[in-house]
Amino acid sequence: MKIIHSKYKQRNMKIWNEVAPRYHKRWASVNKGPFQSTKKLIDIVKIDKKNLVLDVACGTGVVTKQIQKKIGKCGYVVGIDTSTTAIKIAKKWNENNNNLDFINTDAENFAFSKKFDIITCQYALFFFPNAQKALKNMKNSLKKSGKIGISVHGSNDNVPFFSSILDSAVKYIPDYVPPGTPDLDRFGNKTALKSIVKKAGFSNIVVKEFIFNYNPGKFEDYWKNYIKYIAKPLKEKLNALEYSKRKEFRNSVKEKTLQYTKKNGEIVFPWQVLILTAKNN
Ligand SMILES: C[S@@+](CC[C@H](N)C(=O)[O-])C[C@H]1O[C@@H](n2cnc3c(N)ncnc32)[C@H](O)[C@@H]1O
Repeated sequence: MKIIHSKYKQRNMKIWNEVAPRYHKRWASVNKGPFQSTKKLIDIVKIDKKNLVLDVACGTGVVTKQIQKKIGKCGYVVGIDTSTTAIKIAKKWNENNNNLDFINTDAENFAFSKKFDIITCQYALFFFPNAQKALKNMKNSLKKSGKIGISVHGSNDNVPFFSSILDSAVKYIPDYVPPGTPDLDRFGNKTALKSIVKKAGFSNIVVKEFIFNYNPGKFEDYWKNYIKYIAKPLKEKLNALEYSKRKEFRNSVKEKTLQYTKKNGEIVFPWQVLILTAKNN
């Protein structure tokens, strides 16, 4: 199991190093669609000026940046991530801010000498093959009075931006999701999310559901951007498809988007997001 996990992690790290600049431009630096959750998460965890906050799997620093705005001179925020490219972007994006730092380390293995008041983790728990270990690690790094705030995407059925492509992709490209990849949908419902957090020893667990809208443009834009933004290994698999199969794949995706397509041709996807809060004790 450990070898499978470490191979997946290596692969995932490589992917995030490659896609981080595009991810930052398309998603993290704009508060559209699912990224309306950043403000919700920050509001829900109620940050105090003096708080010491940790942002786990901070990526290019979108949540970290907002936390920094909430804390005062006595507070401090640290963002951690395994992608060196994401950390580089996060540092650059925040270069004029004091009382924050970004560190390259793994959510399942970090250790700090100080304990935190709040730990946040947006859109990453499902990437950790041993999510339980990451949560226990968060618990050990919290003050007794500390709390966590975790955002995840809803299940694929409730995020048609993902499923419209994924459901067809796995049909036309059988190894689209490489073996050893954890089920990224596994915490996309309230019961599963609560259950793993409870198992890690947290209490007062509350999960709130949000539905945001996301407009990726017309179908042509949605498809073009999918091809533009996907990671290299997936693009190679897509490029290896015969022309006729690729056309079928595209048509199958289009079919799935029809129910979300308005009369003017614009797609408006609903996007379910779950935000969990829990206390250490
Ligand atoms: C979808 S991004 C979310 C980034 C950021 N929290 C945000 O809201 O934009 C997922 C991030 O998880 C990071 N990640 C994946 N596995 C990780 C691990 N085991 N430890 C730390 N970071 C990890 C990736 O490098 C990537 O930056």
